[in-house]
Amino acid sequence: MAEVRLIAAGAALAAALPGLVAFLGIAQAEMRGHGGPVRALAILADGQRAVSGSFDQSAVVWDLDGETALAVLRVHDGAVNAVAALPDGGFATGAEDGRIAIFGPDGREPARFLDPHPDPITALAVAPDGRRLASASRDGTVRLTPLAGGPAATVGAAASPVHALAFLSDGRLVTGGADLTVRIWPDDGGTPRTVTLPAPVNALAALAGGEIAAGGADGVVRILRPDGSVRAETDLEAGPLVALAAAPGGGRLAAAAIRGVVGLLDAASGRIEARLVGPGLPVWSLAFARDGAQLFTGGGDRLVRRWDARTGEHLGSVILARPASDRLPDGDPRGAQVFGACAACHTLTPDGGNRAGPTLHGLFGRRIASLPGYNFSPALKRLDIVWSPETVSRLFEVGPARYTPGTKMPEQTVSAEDRAALIRFLETATR
Ligand code: HEC
Repeated sequence: MAEVRLIAAGAALAAALPGLVAFLGIAQAEMRGHGGPVRALAILADGQRAVSGSFDQSAVVWDLDGETALAVLRVHDGAVNAVAALPDGGFATGAEDGRIAIFGPDGREPARFLDPHPDPITALAVAPDGRRLASASRDGTVRLTPLAGGPAATVGAAASPVHALAFLSDGRLVTGGADLTVRIWPDDGGTPRTVTLPAPVNALAALAGGEIAAGGADGVVRILRPDGSVRAETDLEAGPLVALAAAPGGGRLAAAAIRGVVGLLDAASGRIEARLVGPGLPVWSLAFARDGAQLFTGGGDRLVRRWDARTGEHLGSVILARPASDRLPDGDPRGAQVFGACAACHTLTPDGGNRAGPTLHGLFGRRIASLPGYNFSPALKRLDIVWSPETVSRLFEVGPARYTPGTKMPEQTVSAEDRAALIRFLETATR
């Protein structure tokens, strides 16, 4: 079954990666904001920020222009499977724990949680009028929650997992799932129009003219007319599709398959116009930039990457070695290079700046989670650690999750040689 394969592959990836990737790919001078594959991705309403969800149980808010991580959010007990941008500039995250968190435009603390689904959340979608959030779960339930508040309505319950959601431009909800069906739900809550396809439906996207793209566990992208009949079929790969995204306007489409093919399709003809060529494939999640010129992907390599949405050319990871605006203080050159992996989240200046982690200025001699003005995880305040060359080295020898349980900092370890260089650099740079 597709669902089992997907989950097994995800768990295997998540389990294998920390061992495989010795440290954050420092050799390539890249950083990972996540400690596991990036499962979900959305561009926020301002077009300048994105939110990603990961198997590592966290969500990260990215500044796409400044190339920094603005916040690491740990509010779920389980993989963050789905994210959705909200019209007010905020976003929603849905996770394996069945919970859905709603964040406001500042994106730092959840404003509220919706009534949990009994089973893991598989998909989220916002209605075109911006007033309702649809959520789907592995138990087959689909709900519509008014974003202004008020009770959620249950939109039918299938006996098998619902994997995908999309809204047509006229406001009707479309669901797809393990039972091989695509269902188009009328607005009055009546009986849906049901179309049965040859394979489980793993992903959906709304296209121009009320059409729908459905990504199958058989590796086929099907374009359905507004009445549900299949108009075009495109074979992408002989393995399940994991993600679909429509470009703004719905005339173009990106489709990702589990073995690594990512196709850019013309929705009218269904033809593959380009394939992504570059590192970091396969990917688990896709999102077009607001102007449609770039495509963002979230991958098994834990990175958010940027691509030319016409040619499929790789443009780089969202976070490169370090933000272009940073001028690092002098210090051990190798250590400065290693610090490149920290710089997306940490500054070295007294004022701290607007990044996901606290400034490391004055780090040595400081008690853990004691810097005023930064909102540390409560669990850290109970730990008896004072930062010194030895304790910081230990942090990245055993990894933040083991050394500082309850931390928001993504899981990462650093080789002995690089740790020594990093400490030498921090000893001068944090003064
Ligand atoms: C994706 C963002 C991210 C990256 C990359 C990252 N960190 Fe962090 N770091 C954080 C966050 C968030 C915290 C706060 C943890 C909490 O409150 O749960 C933190 C906390 C810390 C602390 C404890 C600070 C204190 O005052 O107690 C140290 C030390 C630290 N990080 C060092 C590093 C170093 C060195 C690197 C690079 C090897 C690094 N971090 C990479 C996000 C990050």
